[in-house]
Amino acid sequence: MIEVCKVEEVEHGEGKVVKVKGVEVGIFNIDGEFYALLNSCCHQRGPVCTGDIRKRVGGDVPPLGKLPEEYFTEDYVVICPWHGWAYDIKTGEHAGDPDIRIPTYKIVVEEQTVYLDV
Ligand code: FES
Repeated sequence: MIEVCKVEEVEHGEGKVVKVKGVEVGIFNIDGEFYALLNSCCHQRGPVCTGDIRKRVGGDVPPLGKLPEEYFTEDYVVICPWHGWAYDIKTGEHAGDPDIRIPTYKIVVEEQTVYLDV
């Protein structure tokens, strides 16, 4: 296991990019659970893990206007800053195409320290 950060460094709904063995990995905290994604977008290898984090939209989307709260799920996506592709933070799956997926890494949290299990 490789230590990547302390729990208090990444608040709920936030991410942090770290370098592990020369590879950039995004570490995310969703409701106190930590997740890790390769910081490389499937589109054009943009730094996806530096993008905005938002609740994932589910169900039918109304045609225009601000989405009511009931359209948001409890899942979160990170949105690539280059062209806007969105990925589920827990699974690395593209929000619109489950065949597209960013590699994920297993995280272990022990004594307020976050480790990448590689
Ligand atoms: S490189 Fe990520 S959306 Fe294009």
